[in-house]
Amino acid sequence: MSTTPNNLDAYWMPFTANRHYKSAPRLMVAAEGMYYTTHDGRKVLDGTAGLWCCNAGHARPRISEAIARQARELDYSPAFQMGHPKAFELASRLVQLMPGTLDHVFFTNSGSESVETALKIAIAYHRLGGEASRVRLIGRERGYHGVNFGGMSVGGMTPNRKMFGALVAGVDHLRHTHGDPRNFFSRGEPEFGAELADDLERLCALHDPSTIAAVIVEPIQGSAGVFLPPRGYLKRLRDICDRHGILLIFDEVITGYGRLGTNFAVNYFGVEPDIVTTAKGLTNGVIPMGAVFVQKKIHDRFMQGPQNAIELFHGYTYSGNPVACAAALGTLDTYEEEGLLTRGASLVEYWADAVHGLRDIPIVTDIRTLGLIAGIELQPIEGKPSARAFDAYLKCFAAGLLIRTTGDIIALSPPLIIEKGEIDMLFETLRRVLKQVN
Ligand SMILES: Cc1ncc(COP(=O)(O)O)c(C=O)c1O
Repeated sequence: MSTTPNNLDAYWMPFTANRHYKSAPRLMVAAEGMYYTTHDGRKVLDGTAGLWCCNAGHARPRISEAIARQARELDYSPAFQMGHPKAFELASRLVQLMPGTLDHVFFTNSGSESVETALKIAIAYHRLGGEASRVRLIGRERGYHGVNFGGMSVGGMTPNRKMFGALVAGVDHLRHTHGDPRNFFSRGEPEFGAELADDLERLCALHDPSTIAAVIVEPIQGSAGVFLPPRGYLKRLRDICDRHGILLIFDEVITGYGRLGTNFAVNYFGVEPDIVTTAKGLTNGVIPMGAVFVQKKIHDRFMQGPQNAIELFHGYTYSGNPVACAAALGTLDTYEEEGLLTRGASLVEYWADAVHGLRDIPIVTDIRTLGLIAGIELQPIEGKPSARAFDAYLKCFAAGLLIRTTGDIIALSPPLIIEKGEIDMLFETLRRVLKQVN
């Protein structure tokens, strides 16, 4: 078996410094449990669950066997005007993981598609309710909601937006919640800043609530660098949305499926949005798939008109793909058998102690932890933003540890199967590397 391609040229890699990468490629050729294997035979500890997606770790037999079986049995069936048993079974199992009112699921193939789906449902919902003026969408500065036009527009990460024109019209953004020095080095929800949710009142005053369809936020802003919601912030956002008839969407693409030690962030924060977008951990990252949960009141509003009329003109060729559904069912089996959706809760103190143990390193300017997530912010090198963290990324990889960096922030989100010994190993390596990039 060849483990090294002889030409790297044709593949235009996503979110990658292509020329730098191709000058010194990093190739993964196998993975099992907590570890990747590189093409040169090295083991690399997965500190990021791939891209926040392999929550059950790698090469889990329940998942790979379910996929193989399904591909043999029913490889594909049309997604429109046709069904197959596993899509229904999966939807029924998924809604049991959510609080009672979020009881219908629409399938997509990625986080980005889940977001587009949620935004479209929100606007159509108001139109069906006789409020066709509610078309505005509110996101948040530094938010990440994928890369398609709707998600990019409600997102708030400048590099992801600036090259791509005027984006979707009628979008505005809440202020982000990051940067209050009183919240630095926080464990769990930071104490200060719940009142930042009142920024939604400012946007309501500016645009008039009757023009606003929905607010979308990540309960924890992951991609921008692990920004945690101040205690009470999400609840306050919920209250303001209720006051003004605005739908609240939680983008749980990274916080879903056990990352916080609960099924979803919805459970952790005790705040019920109207719509929840998910993907990633749904299939353990093995097969592309997303799921959008909606409250009964939303689903039911669409179920009107003639029985033989299509209620929502939206969907994907691969919505509820049989192999993806089998992968998701195998993933849920694995989560349930091993108690993974709540395992993080038993490790959270150990994890937080280990992360905050890096506080004494002079270049570490902030550390944030919640569930099995950590954000470690580094002092940027003057005139060279991102360089220090990227250097740390490369040095960690060389030392056998996969981390993720965004700007000068290191984000960690290991598979939920991580053991204490592996947490120790992770932070021993990271400490060594951070001392080298000092
Ligand atoms: C909160 C959030 N939403 C949406 C996405 C986009 O997901 P995908 O890359 O599967 O399209 C991501 C990906 O990281 C995410 O973190």
